[in-house]
Amino acid sequence: MSPNNSILVTGATGNQGTSIIHSCLSSPHIQKVYALVRDPTSPKSLSLQSAGAILLQGTYDDSVSSLTKHFSLASTIFYLPLNSDSDIPRTKNIISAVLASSPSVKQFIVSTTIKTNECKSFPGYAESDDQYPLYTYWNTKYQIEQLVKSAGFQSYTILRPSHFLQNLLLPTRNFLFPSLNKEDELPIFKSCWNPTTKVAWIDVLDQGKIVAAAINDPVGFNKREINLAVELLTPQELSDKIGKVWGKQVKAYQYTEEEQKELNPTIVASQKWANEVDHEGVTEVGKEFELTSVDEFLRRQDGF
Ligand SMILES: NC(=O)c1ccc[n+]([C@@H]2O[C@H](COP(=O)([O-])OP(=O)(O)OC[C@H]3O[C@@H](n4cnc5c(N)ncnc54)[C@H](OP(=O)(O)O)[C@@H]3O)[C@@H](O)[C@H]2O)c1
Repeated sequence: MSPNNSILVTGATGNQGTSIIHSCLSSPHIQKVYALVRDPTSPKSLSLQSAGAILLQGTYDDSVSSLTKHFSLASTIFYLPLNSDSDIPRTKNIISAVLASSPSVKQFIVSTTIKTNECKSFPGYAESDDQYPLYTYWNTKYQIEQLVKSAGFQSYTILRPSHFLQNLLLPTRNFLFPSLNKEDELPIFKSCWNPTTKVAWIDVLDQGKIVAAAINDPVGFNKREINLAVELLTPQELSDKIGKVWGKQVKAYQYTEEEQKELNPTIVASQKWANEVDHEGVTEVGKEFELTSVDEFLRRQDGF
């Protein structure tokens, strides 16, 4: 049987998993923190172990019986789907193992993406990738949420993170915003966002705090679906904040349609999505939890 409050975190060595593990390790009401890792000898796994997490070797593709053996150790499972073609069969596999781990597992927390539940009403939404960019992305996240809601868990919570502020840090910044170079005299923050688009941001470490709170109150968090965003900022508003930390002006620039043809189509599509979809209300979570502001996050990065 699992101890009263214990969590098993999947995707443990990644952005979200690591944040959740650290928050849970520092929460006095959580007795044990398990990390499901593919390679227990990797530096990231070993660093989780030194912080106090208990490593369990496994993958989403393991048999239900093997996953059940691990899941039965914990009262809460955090599940991170990965944007993979295998997300749906993997989700079914994970759900089967969680159900087989009852009554030990009492709570299931899944992370999708901001506004997933509203995807069918996005402007121009159509049920094919030819007609709507990233249809498969949104539909997969949507199907995952439906599978979780109908699984029959004692308690489930859906977290829907917005853009991670960590995307602004190296090395991810080089991939997503290659023009944003601190060493330049006038750094340029290039994106496909319209100058007036308010983009939603969250410090991924705050997600860990919310997971820790949910573990303390599985009844109160049951069936909750929470968008995670601390602020909505136009590209220039964000550039001004970066510029304040860098001590120089940072200028926002929107790629022209011609320039966008040369870029990674998935990045273009995901940025253009924010130009079209209304983000009202996504920062509501900030009324309930003390979240890290964008300024605070950037200051904490020691110049980044
Ligand atoms: N980036 C954003 O701004 C943003 C915003 C909203 C939502 N999201 C969503 O967040 C998700 C990515 O989260 P993240 O950034 O935390 O991920 P991440 O940093 O890329 O980490 C992925 C984790 O999954 C593990 N993993 C990979 N394949 C696995 C498998 N077959 N079985 C078990 N574990 C496996 C990896 O382990 P190893 O160490 O073994 O590789 C790693 O721990 C995506 O679904 C994305 O859509 C991202």
